[in-house]
Amino acid sequence: MTDATQVGTVPAAEGDTGRVIHPRLHHVFLKTPRLEEMKEWYRVVLGMSPNFEWDDGAFLTNDEANHRLVLFTSAQIADDPDKITRAGLHHIAYEYADCDELFDTWSRLKAAGIEPHACLDHGLTTSFYYLDPDGNSLELQYDNFGDWAGSTEFIRTSEDFRAEPIGQPVDPAALVAARAEGASMEEIHRRAYAGEMPATGDHDIRIPG
Ligand SMILES: [Fe+2]
Repeated sequence: MTDATQVGTVPAAEGDTGRVIHPRLHHVFLKTPRLEEMKEWYRVVLGMSPNFEWDDGAFLTNDEANHRLVLFTSAQIADDPDKITRAGLHHIAYEYADCDELFDTWSRLKAAGIEPHACLDHGLTTSFYYLDPDGNSLELQYDNFGDWAGSTEFIRTSEDFRAEPIGQPVDPAALVAARAEGASMEEIHRRAYAGEMPATGDHDIRIPG
């Protein structure tokens, strides 16, 4: 019997001419004009450490994979002042096991002077977005359903999601305070998604239009 949740064993969709193997996402490669600053930021935020470094870059990981992030520099790499309106990557996302892991991370980063540029209850996830030193957005999230089956059902069928796929801007401090007062992950999501904990101050999802 085929286990559809197992990578590499998903049957081809109707109409495919051959079996489609589904590989796992492995790593991201970022070009940077500030290698040392970027290495330090990803160490602090995600716990990335190098498995290999050379003058022009580093292969970093924060789990058992040989690398999850490559940072590469050269004298020809420059910042893009029009990054927001350029085609290309908007963000990279990392998922925590539950709200406490994300909230602990938010508190730890806040104490280190690192604040999100946007926070959203997307319906399927609660997500805090941070800008790295190059202005790349990094999404830190947890699944509001606690498992991918629940959030997959939601994204496929929810009328709320269809009406507003970006979700509800939220105040991370309010979410963290609610948790500290004993609210469950489900209650926090219900209240946040209903707009009871709206974003305050700077909130910029960095999407034009
Ligand atoms: Fe995302």
